[in-house]
Amino acid sequence: MQLIDGKAVADRIKQEIAQEVADICNAGGKRPHLAAVLVGHDGGSETYVAHKVKACEQCGFKSTLIRYENDVTEEELLRRVDELNNDPDIDGFIVQLPLPKHISEQKVIEAIDYRKDVDGFHPVNVGRMSIGLPCFVSATPAGIMELLARYNIETKGKHCVVLGRSNIVGKPVATLMMQKACPGNATVTVCHSATPNIKEICRTADIIIAALGSPEFVTADMVKEGAVIVDVGTTRVPDASKKSGFKLTGDVKFDEVAPRCSFITPVPGGVGPMTIVSLMRNTLLAGKKAIYQ
Ligand code: GUN
Repeated sequence: MQLIDGKAVADRIKQEIAQEVADICNAGGKRPHLAAVLVGHDGGSETYVAHKVKACEQCGFKSTLIRYENDVTEEELLRRVDELNNDPDIDGFIVQLPLPKHISEQKVIEAIDYRKDVDGFHPVNVGRMSIGLPCFVSATPAGIMELLARYNIETKGKHCVVLGRSNIVGKPVATLMMQKACPGNATVTVCHSATPNIKEICRTADIIIAALGSPEFVTADMVKEGAVIVDVGTTRVPDASKKSGFKLTGDVKFDEVAPRCSFITPVPGGVGPMTIVSLMRNTLLAGKKAIYQ
């Protein structure tokens, strides 16, 4: 069994990005600038955004954090999105999800200029990804594909089972895994809450991508000997022994599943760091106007 070290790969890619940014700036080019909009004080969102701001620093990007309280109106948020769309210094920006119930996430996502949508959530980017055109690919799916590539994991002709059908992970990663590309070219099955025989389907998988947000859902009896396991879960489970009061728990029962696998991602330190680094890569692409003018 080989552990997939997402943190080490992410650190290497951040160094590569930082070098490229230094070269751009030394040649008189513009330093990439990412803005992040954070509404409210959700613990998970606070942590993710703090990691994104820190990663910007490590990559040599400029970053701006824009905060609103939970009672911000949809109108006010949409006005800010419009300002960011029209600010020539901002290369890309994200609005951290989830948003409070009184704000339509879809409306906000569609208000973002797709040329600055470094999260890859806008329908233009989602659509272009699904037909294999250059676009901003959303960060978690892009990070997963990068890990598979860097570990030379064969995906062509393999049976890949994706657990979960979220717009952020399940759907896009299923799309990428079936794309005629490398990595990709897999036979993909997507399982979700209405799938009656998930265990049986998982047992036929060469690759399982678990992204349902259900702690330790994947157990040893669901995994074929030699399978590749990618764990996208990051649920905060109460743990009195931790200073924070919780531990991040994946969708895979790691201790019993790991011995059966050829490759497995840990939680934390697997997909998570790659997600952030994919956002950094999209920001660099936005800064260079490499995808859209
Ligand atoms: N919430 C959970 N993951 C993400 C992400 O990748 N981007 C944004 N904007 N919000 C999220």
